[in-house]
Amino acid sequence: MLVDSHAHIQLDNYDKDRESVLTRARQADVHAILIVGFDLQTSQDAILLAESHDECFATVGMHPHDATTLTSATLDIFRKLASDPLVIALGEMGLDYYRNQSPRSLQKFAFEQQLDLAEELSLPVIIHNREAYHDILPILKARSGRIRGVMHCFSGDVKTMRHTLDLGFCIGIGGPVTYRKAEELQTVAREVPVDHLLVETDCPWLAPQNQRGKRNEPAYVRSTAEKIAELRGVSLDKIAEITTRNFERLFRDRAPSVS
Ligand code: NI
Repeated sequence: MLVDSHAHIQLDNYDKDRESVLTRARQADVHAILIVGFDLQTSQDAILLAESHDECFATVGMHPHDATTLTSATLDIFRKLASDPLVIALGEMGLDYYRNQSPRSLQKFAFEQQLDLAEELSLPVIIHNREAYHDILPILKARSGRIRGVMHCFSGDVKTMRHTLDLGFCIGIGGPVTYRKAEELQTVAREVPVDHLLVETDCPWLAPQNQRGKRNEPAYVRSTAEKIAELRGVSLDKIAEITTRNFERLFRDRAPSVS
């Protein structure tokens, strides 16, 4: 059994065939899907989907692109939404210095506010990073022992992976690990300790090599898990088992436990 730890199937890209997408996920043995919000609307939609599908769970949060819209009123709504037991994490949140759609100072402010909320609610966090590890890691380090979560769609090198692991965070590996030129990410996928590895799609984006350029979906997390199994010289079943266990430990235990 596999888990897609990062999907956006609440988006209208799936309005025409969402039930078929979920059926294909089940057929691919994907038995849990974490639907990740990135602004108010997509967070509310994630909860609605989780309410109507047993295998779906939700997160609520504000992406750094929209950091400017995180007012104290919005934060209050997130706080209320997060009291729903189907909400098992906050995010995605973080810093994006590639697109810079919001000023960096405001991105940091929005990130810190959401981390405060995660501490208050004892929820794990899903971190979005683009070209910003040098700022994200110190921010997380300052909260070491009080915050836990996953570095989603990890794209750093092995050294950055080690710093991330030092903070107790999990490494989320997505479809790019299957790309032919992804040597660095493949090295990371080989070296992540078994108890800190998660798999994800980030669908509709980042489809694996065999579907590259098409709309991604939770069923395809299987290709990513197969690639990681091949890289590590273990069975797909083994990768499925450890990533599912890690998912359960990180997201399904609401107690404030930090390694
Ligand atoms: Ni995402």
